[in-house]
Amino acid sequence: MTHPMLLLVAEQFTTLPILASPSTCTGKTYIITGANTGLGLETARHLVSFSAARVILAVRNLDSGAKAQADIEKTTGRTGVVEVWKVDLAEFASVRSFAERVKALERVDGFVNNAGVFLDKWSVSEGDETTMTVNVVSTMLLGALVMPKLVESARRFGIRPRMVFVVSALGFTAKGELDKGGKVDVFEGLNDEKKQAMDARYALTKLVEMYAVREFAAKFPVKETGVIINMTSPGLCTTQLGRDARTLTRAIQGALRTAMARSAEEGSRTILHGIVGDEETHGKHLSGCEIKEHWIPKWMTDEEGQRTQKQIWKELVAKLVQAGCTTLS
Ligand SMILES: NC(=O)c1ccc[n+]([C@@H]2O[C@H](COP(=O)([O-])OP(=O)(O)OC[C@H]3O[C@@H](n4cnc5c(N)ncnc54)[C@H](OP(=O)(O)O)[C@@H]3O)[C@@H](O)[C@H]2O)c1
Repeated sequence: MTHPMLLLVAEQFTTLPILASPSTCTGKTYIITGANTGLGLETARHLVSFSAARVILAVRNLDSGAKAQADIEKTTGRTGVVEVWKVDLAEFASVRSFAERVKALERVDGFVNNAGVFLDKWSVSEGDETTMTVNVVSTMLLGALVMPKLVESARRFGIRPRMVFVVSALGFTAKGELDKGGKVDVFEGLNDEKKQAMDARYALTKLVEMYAVREFAAKFPVKETGVIINMTSPGLCTTQLGRDARTLTRAIQGALRTAMARSAEEGSRTILHGIVGDEETHGKHLSGCEIKEHWIPKWMTDEEGQRTQKQIWKELVAKLVQAGCTTLS
């Protein structure tokens, strides 16, 4: 089997289609986390230009969100569509209050879990290292808390809402790091600063996120919920990701981006694929605007991989319940 990283490099040089259009987006309501910049901003811009009725930019910094709103309105010529709502994924209380606001919406057609961080200094938020909290625990908490709204929208309007998670093929490089966490109390094992390499932390969190989304989708099949849950790897893109990392990490990222990165707009096309993807995409890994399930390494799906997936899910559910989530039990 060709290593996913080689497949990713080859894919970087292909031209991606824009699969969304006014016929798929007109009149719909979308929410995108981390939409003040990068891939989230470009996804929002596409949706507004494709005549969405309501596009909510879920951001941790309202000033930055207001600038993004003004930029989208200027480039698309559409006003009265974009809203800016506050959510900070480093704080469970903020995630909960954001989800409460979502409940009051009339409908949600697409929810994109896009916000993420690439940190290389250890810090702790809500009991776990911050990258793990933002990229995994809070991301899944938010997904679980808003899921009933998507289910309700599906039933009420006879639609198929999408929940898209923006993951990364870099996650496939993090098996060694994940194994350091052990087979039980995985999150606790991964929360040991002495054992963990911060250089690999981002990739590790994206691997844990992929396991979690696969199990989430398996637990909530489309035939029961009416909701399509998928995950997309946008490939290497020129965005602000890694801005908080040390100079050396930023220099390496800069060199790689110069050699082969997509623009943020091109990367956003992979998210649009998730937003319009049909039932076939449920629980699947998408990349390059296609289903790329064959990129999932065998070690993620064999007997041990399945055990790991279930263990991660079990521990995650306990964390989410403790964080106030009642939608999973
Ligand atoms: N760029 C790539 O090459 C690449 C490759 C694979 C996957 N991805 C994934 O794509 C997604 C988007 O990243 P990007 O490349 O567009 O990076 P980006 O430009 O850095 O955007 C990340 C977004 O996440 C937000 N965010 C970070 N921490 C947050 C928190 N605690 N609460 C709420 N929002 C938070 C950021 O807000 P602030 O602006 O306020 O910091 C920003 O809006 C991420 O999930 C990333 O892992 C990116």
